[in-house]
Amino acid sequence: MKVAVMGYGTIGSGVVEVLRINKDRIAERAGEPVEVKYVLDLREFPGDPMEDKIVHDYQVIANDPEVGIVVETMGGVEPAFTFVKAMLEAGKQVTTSNKALVAAKGAELIRIAREKNVNFQFEASVGGGIPIIRPLNCCLTADEIEEITGILNGTTNYMLTKMSEEGAEFEDVLKDAQAKGYAEKDPTADIEGHDPCRKIAILTSLVCGRQVDFEDIHCEGITKISATDIKYAKAMNRSIKLLASSRKVGESYVAMVAPFLLPQTHPLCNVNDVFNGVFVHGNVLGDAMFYGSGAGKLPTASAVVADIVDMAKHQNVNIVIDWKEEKMELLDYKDCTN
Ligand code: HSE
Repeated sequence: MKVAVMGYGTIGSGVVEVLRINKDRIAERAGEPVEVKYVLDLREFPGDPMEDKIVHDYQVIANDPEVGIVVETMGGVEPAFTFVKAMLEAGKQVTTSNKALVAAKGAELIRIAREKNVNFQFEASVGGGIPIIRPLNCCLTADEIEEITGILNGTTNYMLTKMSEEGAEFEDVLKDAQAKGYAEKDPTADIEGHDPCRKIAILTSLVCGRQVDFEDIHCEGITKISATDIKYAKAMNRSIKLLASSRKVGESYVAMVAPFLLPQTHPLCNVNDVFNGVFVHGNVLGDAMFYGSGAGKLPTASAVVADIVDMAKHQNVNIVIDWKEEKMELLDYKDCTN
């Protein structure tokens, strides 16, 4: 299977690395060797093992019939949308880690993929390496999902943990999270909550089967959290966590992103460092928790490569996602505070 990687940043280079580290295992599971034929990036990478595979024009990939699977790890809505759409229309299967793209265009891309009889997958777009998209689309389809509440941003969880455990300053821990490759290029998306807001919009769209716009979700980040707030929370034996939550109320949903004071008994209270946790309540399942590495190069690449393996194995359409372009009107969180 010949693969192209669009975007050779932290996650794209992680995908290449995972394909190299676990080459034999991946070939066995995919049913054939998986080889990177192209890497699309505006930059050159002299001395890099992928140096000779760099291309600057996405049409080279779209027009090459040998490429069966395309990985999108560029981030942002454009030009990622234009490129991904072109790949699906050219009959290629696509996996992406790009939550901005999936939140804004997921329903449309799923429709195009269905029309072209190819797969479009995005396991890495929420929760980094934690499986959550596939479980919602597969193992939990017997349920009416009544609540999803998650710590969906590794950067801010890492920051809040360090601020609480070590009394570290906001700016210092942010720099540390950036150096470790957890934060977005522009970390405003992390600290203002836009990143978990897109992720909860994706999860809510999946459980309700309709388009949930992230602009409709109340969103507060952690920029107003001070050292004093952390001190008081500790004195009360509570932790401050940035939660992204969505709850079914009647026939609609209420969703929000905001910092919460959690007691030690809450299942998300001890999800620390860069880990993410997702609590799900289904009407017949009851409670379930998903927990693990929520950001960073290799954990996120692990989820992308799992999509590659799945798509190599199931070249016929594997999309079971019911995510229509028709919009779901959310309720105002102020009307649903109990
Ligand atoms: N910046 C994101 C985070 C990366 O910190 O969770 C993973 O989506």
